[in-house]
Amino acid sequence: PVVHWFPGHMAKATRMITEYIKKVDVVIELLDARIPRSSANPVIIELIGQKPHIVLLNKADLADPKATKEWTEFFMNKGITVLSIDSKSGKGNKKLLSTVERLSKPIIDRWMAKGIRSRSVRTIILGIPNVGKSTLINSLAGSAATRTANKAGHTRGQQWVKIGKNLELLDTPGVLWPKLEDQRAAARLAMTGAISDDVYDLEHVIKQLITHLLTNEPQILVERYKLKETEMTDIDTIIESIGRRRGCLVSGGIVDFDKARRIILQDYRNGKLGVITLDRVDEEPYYADDNEGS
Ligand code: G4P
Repeated sequence: PVVHWFPGHMAKATRMITEYIKKVDVVIELLDARIPRSSANPVIIELIGQKPHIVLLNKADLADPKATKEWTEFFMNKGITVLSIDSKSGKGNKKLLSTVERLSKPIIDRWMAKGIRSRSVRTIILGIPNVGKSTLINSLAGSAATRTANKAGHTRGQQWVKIGKNLELLDTPGVLWPKLEDQRAAARLAMTGAISDDVYDLEHVIKQLITHLLTNEPQILVERYKLKETEMTDIDTIIESIGRRRGCLVSGGIVDFDKARRIILQDYRNGKLGVITLDRVDEEPYYADDNEGS
């Protein structure tokens, strides 16, 4: 497999998320806009049940805007509320808050009918590692936010951050585990940094990334690394040429392939290769034997 790792404590994580979800009125699920399918957690929908749910396509600044539009339509067609945001810049926060407000209106109306007026709407941010949960919480909380004291019954250390007049956000995000059984998804999760760098096969992951670029946007490699036509023959030659350009050499002028691969990966993650969405709406489903022989 691409990833030599199994996320532990899945049962415990499921239990914790189930507990969190019970306490909130609206659930915010963060996905990576570059991999909206691969970054989704398989069991989340079951856990959310009937609660209002917002899908946020985060890191939209790193994704292809055309693909983000297609993904937005994909979720909308399923009746799911969806927004694309860039939580690093805080762009989209206002829209998110007004969407939470819109989704919670029926809940507030029910409370009003029962005579409950003082309650805040509560929400939580869920997502796989590195998708931007903490960045979003900090960006939403800002400096003006006030943190409410721990109340009995809440896990120690967790607090509700008051945002605006009527909304409280749990300051600890719900961490979901990534989808590793699907090898194509696993490789993309590794590319985007959702999986720790020491548990996947870098050679395989870079091979997948370069193959994706060659298939979908070959000019990116030429432009970024000034590759010549003669260097675009096969994956190893591409990596070697990039390594040579970037000075990844060991004694004897031999290219350090591993170092070159890491540079390519960093460039992708930092957006230096441009805005690239890896998951496509219309992609063929993945089959387990796709990687055979590779
Ligand atoms: P997590 O809580 O879900 O694990 O993710 P976290 O907020 O720690 O964010 C993980 C990385 O993703 C951070 O980068 C963060 O800055 C970056 N990030 C979060 N949201 C966005 C976004 O909308 N756009 C972009 N481009 N990046 C985003 P890092 O490299 O770990 O830290 P730093 O270099 O930004 O300080």
